[in-house]
Amino acid sequence: MTQNFLDNTLYEMDNLLVLRGMNSETVDLIATDPPFNTKRNRASSAGFYVDKWKWGDTGILPDQWKWNEVHPKWLEEIKDNHKALYYAIDAAKQCQGQDTAAFLCFLSVRLLEMHRILKTTGSLYLHCDPTASHYIKMCLDAIFGKKNFKNEIIWHYQAGTGPRTAFKRKHDSIYFYTKSSKSYFNRQAKPVVNPARYNKIDEQGRAYDVNGQGKRYYLDEGQTCGDVWTYIQEKQFQQLNSQAKEKTGAPDQKPLVLYERIIKASSNEGDLVLDPFCGCATTIIAAKDLNRRWIGIDRRADARFHIITRLMGVSKKERKRLEELAKDSNWTKDFLDKQTAKYEVHYQTKPPTRTDKSEETAPELPNVYVAEPENLLTHATMKEILINQFGVECWGCGFQPPDKDERYLHLDHINPKSSGGTNSIDNRSILCQPCNSTKSNTMTLDGLRRQNKREKLIKKAQLIDIRSAVSWARDHMMNLIRQTPHQYNLFGK
Ligand SMILES: C[S@@+](CC[C@H](N)C(=O)[O-])C[C@H]1O[C@@H](n2cnc3c(N)ncnc32)[C@H](O)[C@@H]1O
Ligand SMILES: [Zn+2]
Repeated sequence: MTQNFLDNTLYEMDNLLVLRGMNSETVDLIATDPPFNTKRNRASSAGFYVDKWKWGDTGILPDQWKWNEVHPKWLEEIKDNHKALYYAIDAAKQCQGQDTAAFLCFLSVRLLEMHRILKTTGSLYLHCDPTASHYIKMCLDAIFGKKNFKNEIIWHYQAGTGPRTAFKRKHDSIYFYTKSSKSYFNRQAKPVVNPARYNKIDEQGRAYDVNGQGKRYYLDEGQTCGDVWTYIQEKQFQQLNSQAKEKTGAPDQKPLVLYERIIKASSNEGDLVLDPFCGCATTIIAAKDLNRRWIGIDRRADARFHIITRLMGVSKKERKRLEELAKDSNWTKDFLDKQTAKYEVHYQTKPPTRTDKSEETAPELPNVYVAEPENLLTHATMKEILINQFGVECWGCGFQPPDKDERYLHLDHINPKSSGGTNSIDNRSILCQPCNSTKSNTMTLDGLRRQNKREKLIKKAQLIDIRSAVSWARDHMMNLIRQTPHQYNLFGK
């Protein structure tokens, strides 16, 4: 699709606005590392970073979060159009609380856009930690589809803390999803564990080993990477600068080798790599070094300073000196403008405008309505709706209670739960007390009717037609879901 933004652009602003402005199917790879919601405030020489979400809070957090202004709209969007995602977020709310749900909403609206702007051959790598990783996985399954889940990569690092009452926490998770089955993947290797085994030499002088099937494994091809990445090993293999030199001082900076491997595996030279939470530009630097085009987004006011100084490859000492100078805003602007031009970076503080509304793209995520709006209809309501529509009568035997007294009737299932019947109104029936006790939880409504017929318990010539009752209930349910008012309190109190 037509790209409506320039290559190698840094957007210094909220990524939601930028993502929403980017044309569909324009990005080859998204590799990103959003805030983790660890509820830790991280301070360092490179700035202050609040990694914390608070539901419905006002004022306490720095205004960068602007949470209150937007979240009702996000929720409406998710609830209206992405049911599975809505339930994933709701599950997190039930298990971990509102703050996690708030964080997931923040992330999900962005992930929906990321999904849209990926090419059909594109991939996403999302970096997170066990604080919320399992809930993030559910959201990703809901957005990308579980068949497009490729890996949960465990990045095992050396540093790492933890309580004395448990094992030390020493890993992050990186979720790898593709947009479709059309994605590509380049094998990545690491050094073999036991080089001594590669004791045969071929005609070209290359050392190899053979497996049971006689297939050759070459020492210089290394060993195919698995999904557990141990940092030390990678570093030795790739002979990169020590991390110490790479360090900018930012508390949330990730090692280059990690992002280099991701970029090599899931993109090719000339491809476009996006990091919407680019921080100190690790993804950007890795992409540039590997001859990929790039887009970085970060809302930090000093995002450009970080990117530029990393592109310049300044030493730690030089960075300190520049940070001192950067306290003078005139100096900073001058310096940054000059270097931005020199490094051919496009710097933007306004989002792009979509130009592809008329273009034919793959369909966006379908609107999915679940057949189970349990949170909308209580048992009492379903009973009332069905009785209003079909009369005060048992669907199993035709019994009509005296004085139309509804207390004789109960809500039951048409197909039992045990054979996959749902709790939604299109699988509900109204039964009298005796029918209700006869119909075990393995019997269908049809089965109950046959039994009643054998035992001569049917009290009416014409029972309610099950097929048309189901179809009426389904229409009714869909209308209810569509009409759900936006001010409806989605998560209850
Ligand atoms: C964990 S850090 C990324 C670090 C990066 N991977 C690196 O190695 O330097 C997350 C970044 O997301 C940015 N961020 C948080 N919310 C954002 C938003 N709504 N839009 C753009 N950037 C955001 C923060 O400013 C922070 O720099
Ligand atoms: Zn009955």
